[in-house]
Amino acid sequence: MVGGERRIADAHLRMRVAADYERRPLQKAAATTSEAPQWGLRFVFHFLMNSIETNISKKLAELGVADAAGLAPLFAEVHARFDAEATVATDEGSWKLFRDAWLGRKAGVLTLITDNWLKPASPELKRVVGAALNELRGHVEAKIEERRVAIEVGAENAAARDSVDLSLPGVVRPIGSRHLVRQVFQEIEDIFVSIGFSVVEGPEIETPYYNFEALNIPEHHPVRDDMDTFYLELPKGAGSPLLLRTHTSPVQIRTMEKTQPPVRVIVPGKVYRRDNPDATHSFAFHQIEGLAVDSDITFCDFTGTIEYFVTQFFGVGVKTRFRPSYFPFTEPSVEFDVSCPFCGGSGTAAGGGTCAKCKGAGWIELFGAGMVDPAVYGFVNYDAKKVSGFAFGIGIDRLAMLKYGIDDIQVFFQNDVRFLRQFP
Ligand code: PHE
Repeated sequence: MVGGERRIADAHLRMRVAADYERRPLQKAAATTSEAPQWGLRFVFHFLMNSIETNISKKLAELGVADAAGLAPLFAEVHARFDAEATVATDEGSWKLFRDAWLGRKAGVLTLITDNWLKPASPELKRVVGAALNELRGHVEAKIEERRVAIEVGAENAAARDSVDLSLPGVVRPIGSRHLVRQVFQEIEDIFVSIGFSVVEGPEIETPYYNFEALNIPEHHPVRDDMDTFYLELPKGAGSPLLLRTHTSPVQIRTMEKTQPPVRVIVPGKVYRRDNPDATHSFAFHQIEGLAVDSDITFCDFTGTIEYFVTQFFGVGVKTRFRPSYFPFTEPSVEFDVSCPFCGGSGTAAGGGTCAKCKGAGWIELFGAGMVDPAVYGFVNYDAKKVSGFAFGIGIDRLAMLKYGIDDIQVFFQNDVRFLRQFP
C-alpha cells in the first residue's frame, strides 16, 4: 500500500512540476539539470498532500465507512481533486502524467479505488461503491478525452500560427506600369538632364501674378484670351484670385526668384484650359517647360539645344526649323517644326498619297519657344543687361501622340487598360 501511495504521489508531483515548468519556462534548464528542486518539492508535496492519497490506499472498513452516507463525501473529495488537476493538464506532457495518475492500470487512482474500496467491500456496500466508481470513471474518462482534444487543437493552432509555408506560391500583386504620358516625360527629362538641366516642379494652382503678370502679360493683354482659364471660386474677402495654371511658364518665374544665374531647368507638369474636349483638345494636358539663363546664352545655343533634343527624341534623321511667333515673355519668339518623322518630310505616304500625319506638308508643328524677354528679368530682379537665355514649352500629349501614332488625346485620360497595356 505504501508503494502505491508513493507512486500516486509521484505522478501527481510530476504533473505539478511539469505545470510549474510551463509557467516559468526560463527556469526550465536549471531545474532539469539539477534534481534538487524536484526532491525538495516532493518532500513538501508529501506533507501537504490532502487526505485523498491516504484514503484511497486504505480499505473502507479502515476508514470507518460502512454505508452509502459515509461513502458520498469520500467520492466527492476524489471528484473535486480530479477536477482541480484537470485544469493543470495544459500540454501533452502534463496531460499524460494526469491520465496515468488517474487511469494507470497498476497504480492509477481508479485502480486503487477498485482494489481498496470496491473489492474488499461487503456485498451490500459493493453495489453502492460500484455505482459511484462507474460514475467517477465515466467522468474521468470523458474529461481526460476532452483535455486531450483541447490540447491537440490548441497545439495545432499554435503550430499553424507559428509556421510559414515557404513552399507556397507568393501573392501576386500586379504592379502596373507607367502611363505613356509619364514615360514620355521621363524620356524628355533624361535627354535634358544629360545636358545639364535639372528637373523642378511648381504648383498647379497659381496666382494671376505668376501665371500672367510676371510673364509680361498684364491684366487686359489680349493674349489672355487665348487661355480660357479656370478661376477658383474663393470665399468673399480672400486675398488674391487663384486659377489653375494655363501653362508651366509660371515656374520660370518661381525658379528665377529663388535662384541666381546660371539657371538650367525643365519643369514637367499638368496644365489646364477651358477647352472643349475633342480629338486634339482636353481641359487638362501636360507640358514640359524649359529655361536656360546665363551671362552669355545666344540664339545659337538656343536652336542648337532644341535641335539636339529633337534628334534625340525622334531620331537623327529628322530636321528642325523655326518660324517667327509671338509670346509676351519671349523675344524673339519662335515656333519649332520638325520634319515629318513618318514620311521623311516628303509629305507622301509610304503607299502613295498624302501623308496623314503631316497632311502633306512634310513638317509638323512642335512647340513654342524663344529668347527670354528682358522685361521678364525685371520681375525677378535679374540684371537684363548682364543675362540672357531661352525658354520653351513642349506639349507632351501632342508629342506622345505623334511619336506613338495615337490619334485621340482623350485616351490619355480615360485610363482604359486596353490602351495602357500597349505601353508597358
Ligand atoms: N507657355 C507657352 C504656352 O503654353 C509656351 C512657351 C513656353 C512659349 C516658353 C515660349 C517659351 O503656349
